[in-house]
Amino acid sequence: MSGRRGAAARGAHPGVPGGAGNRGVGEPEGVAARATDVPLGATPVLELRDVVTEIRGVRGLVRPVDGVSLTVRAGQVVGLVGESGSGKSMTAFSVMRLFPTKAARVTGGEILLRGGDGRVRDLRTLGPDALRAVRGREIGMIFQDPASYLNPVLTVGRQLEQQLQAHGLGQGADARIAELLTDVGLSPEVARRYAHELSGGQCQRVGIASALACRPALVVADEPTTALDVTIQAQVLRLLARLQRDQGVALLLITHDLGVVAEVCDHVYVMYAGRIVEEGPVEDLFARPRHPYTQGLLAGVLDLLEPKPIRVSIEGSVPDLVRPPSGCRFHPRCPHAMPICEREAPPLLPRDEGAALGHSACWLHDPGVVGAGVTVEPGREDGP
Ligand SMILES: Nc1ncnc2c1ncn2[C@@H]1O[C@H](COP(=O)(O)OP(=O)(O)OP(=O)(O)O)[C@@H](O)[C@H]1O
Ligand code: SF4
Ligand SMILES: [Mg+2]
Repeated sequence: MSGRRGAAARGAHPGVPGGAGNRGVGEPEGVAARATDVPLGATPVLELRDVVTEIRGVRGLVRPVDGVSLTVRAGQVVGLVGESGSGKSMTAFSVMRLFPTKAARVTGGEILLRGGDGRVRDLRTLGPDALRAVRGREIGMIFQDPASYLNPVLTVGRQLEQQLQAHGLGQGADARIAELLTDVGLSPEVARRYAHELSGGQCQRVGIASALACRPALVVADEPTTALDVTIQAQVLRLLARLQRDQGVALLLITHDLGVVAEVCDHVYVMYAGRIVEEGPVEDLFARPRHPYTQGLLAGVLDLLEPKPIRVSIEGSVPDLVRPPSGCRFHPRCPHAMPICEREAPPLLPRDEGAALGHSACWLHDPGVVGAGVTVEPGREDGP
């Protein structure tokens, strides 16, 4: 494990690869070994710029994604965290315009994807056919519940074959399918089975095989292990991390588990009520959370050694997005709220001098508001 990762490593997580052992670069197994310090200048594979997604429902207009910008660079694992209902899944769905409801639309911003040929395209401008060609080919997606997207009436092999064929990769499909299944730790014989003949862990391995089948540059994984047994979660994460490292694919990982983020991710974005409130390199952000919401998130995790979902130590809950709070959306729950917080939304400001350590959106970081030199200290009661 690199020195830079040391701060986060205090939360080393036995449930994830590299967690207990703090393995170093070059060692055979584990996510920490994968984290071969991705150069800061690595090429962005995915860039979201000011993305807005709206859902028009019976109760009114909801913006679950409200001006979200984030970058995933080649070979990087980027985490997206936040409480339930903060807009993480809707952000992921926005990338591929695959929403659980027809009422959802991406209405603003750019979604820039660098394809395997080096071309950068704004996915927002693509028509349905072009977008279908990108899905599964250039972006692999892993869902929370693999059984929900495995077709119950087709064998695993037939589904993978159809996927390869749809993207013009049908030649030699049998050999490729056997290779994929072996890569994810399954017998090639699984190709002849149906989803109902597989365990949850096996289904998710097939899901990973499917996401990687066309050798995409980017994989988006939304809570990929939440539906699995705790012991299987670690295996599946270890597998995903090894494949991510071996194949150099970039990974956008949505998870509730901050222990997983500490070990697996290079960079993390914290989302609250449809907006990014803080982002930065994982080790620095975990060691010195600047935004009061991030501080609350981390304080809720009494011990990162215990795998458990996010429990915020701050009173209240994510607001109803039909009528979000004015100004800083966190102000009704924030222990540091000031009059300006209710009036104006704070801009994302560098967490430190220069932008290398990420950004945080809080008026407390604005010297013009609180006086030069004032910084937010973590103030955690039980932080890691
Ligand atoms: N099918 C839907 N119909 C209408 N609104 C929805 C739908 N799905 C999500 N929303 C709205 O979008 C908001 C964000 O939902 P999203 O699923 O992105 O949250 P999340 O951060 O992924 O939460 P979780 O951690 O529980 O998965 C919700 O609070 C809700 O207001
Ligand atoms: S802007 Fe104000 S309300 Fe929002 S997190 Fe900062 S101090 Fe709290
Ligand atoms: Mg979700």
